[in-house]
Amino acid sequence: MSQAEIGLIGLGVMGANLALNIAEKGNRIAVFNRTVETTRKFHADAGELKSQIVPCETIEAFVAAIRPPRPIIIMIKAGEAVDQQMEALKPHLAGGDIMIDAGNANFRDTMRRFDALKDTGLTFIGMGVSGGEEGARHGPSIMVGGTEESYARVEKVLTSIAAKYDGEPCVAWLGENGAGHFVKTIHNGIEYADMQMIAEIYGILRDGLKMTAEEIGDVFGTWNRGRLNSYLIEITEKVLEATDPLTGKPMVDMILDKAGQKGTGKWSAIEAQNMGVPATAIEAAVAARSISSMKGEREAAEKILGLPSIGEFQVADRAAFIKDLENALLAAKIGAYAQGFAVMSAASKEFGWSLPMPTIARIWRAGCIIRSQFLDEITSAFTKAPDAANLIVTPAFAAMVKETDGALRRIVSAAVLGGLPVPALASALGYFDSYRRGRGTANLIQAQRDFFGAHGFDRVDGADSHHGPWGSV
Ligand code: 6PG
Repeated sequence: MSQAEIGLIGLGVMGANLALNIAEKGNRIAVFNRTVETTRKFHADAGELKSQIVPCETIEAFVAAIRPPRPIIIMIKAGEAVDQQMEALKPHLAGGDIMIDAGNANFRDTMRRFDALKDTGLTFIGMGVSGGEEGARHGPSIMVGGTEESYARVEKVLTSIAAKYDGEPCVAWLGENGAGHFVKTIHNGIEYADMQMIAEIYGILRDGLKMTAEEIGDVFGTWNRGRLNSYLIEITEKVLEATDPLTGKPMVDMILDKAGQKGTGKWSAIEAQNMGVPATAIEAAVAARSISSMKGEREAAEKILGLPSIGEFQVADRAAFIKDLENALLAAKIGAYAQGFAVMSAASKEFGWSLPMPTIARIWRAGCIIRSQFLDEITSAFTKAPDAANLIVTPAFAAMVKETDGALRRIVSAAVLGGLPVPALASALGYFDSYRRGRGTANLIQAQRDFFGAHGFDRVDGADSHHGPWGSV
């Protein structure tokens, strides 16, 4: 029997689906799971893909089943378990073998793991995989970080399983060590911002316009056929139109308003802060999830403070207002993506990766959670201007911002006056307004810093005088 082209450890939901995808695309795959029963059941249930899968019950048999140099995908819970699994594998591997962490790892762990293997002859790939269960099974977006040589060994398999956009595979080698996991982290940060902005718009429709879940679903359905066309808008419509089998009410109305988070959004915000890059939409989205989880405190505060003038939400022309909401969401989305790409651009310099912005946008067009037509427009903008300082100053996006930021301003104003929280939408507007203003207000901050701490300042006229006459005031 011929050897497997690749191996996979961890037959949880994501691992099992990825393994089936690999087998289905004609690649022979060896699989191993800590619990032997899981491996047996997985193989027994694999139907016509059974012959492409080599189920292994020991690590020795698993390693022996793979063609050297052996690429081994580790698809287990991120964190310490990955280090333990790598340690367990190591003694069985030979020079050139490649351990591939396909979980949502913190890129700093990936850098550490990559470095730790440096002098062992083994190599490490940190691979971001997006698209959830469905994506893993039928075509995810794959972001690879590691040596180019190790990528060459797995490129064929990964290309065969990745999602395709107009026939182009959504997989790419993005750079050394932590590049793939960093890009996946920022993908998730943008995902958080995108989801939060959609939720804020939903809040305006629900609490401002008093629309039902089904009516709001129809609005998102219409938008999905326009410029906002994307997976997240598509599932928003589906979610809003689903009925709870227990009560017969809209499903979404029966779900507690406490959002979970596993860390990637927070890591995006932290890394942005570390590099001094504003990523306010991502930060707002992470904070909004945190405040959502403080359900008890919020309920208590509502009793004490009351809701701000919620009954006064006035809309003269409903249709025009809904059109404004669509454009406001598009504008805010541009802000969030611009920030995400700016963070990646800074990280590229900071960590010496040369991250290819047009390629990242290209492999996010299909397969991943933030996939959309919009990403095709970003691909084209960065292809034409790969060194643009910011997405919003590329000609196509500058035009889009100018066209839609008025709507964002009107919507943020209406929401603020109506007492509806829109932290992510407002952050995008604040970002545009600050970024486009040549003369800001930090001159005052510099003066204050100099006043209390003699921190010094630069002058607009370039004169060689760096402190104010504070002693005399
Ligand atoms: C993806 C998703 C995936 C997962 C997130 C959810 O790209 O397929 O982002 O990675 O759904 O980890 O993260 P939270 O649990 O933090 O929302």
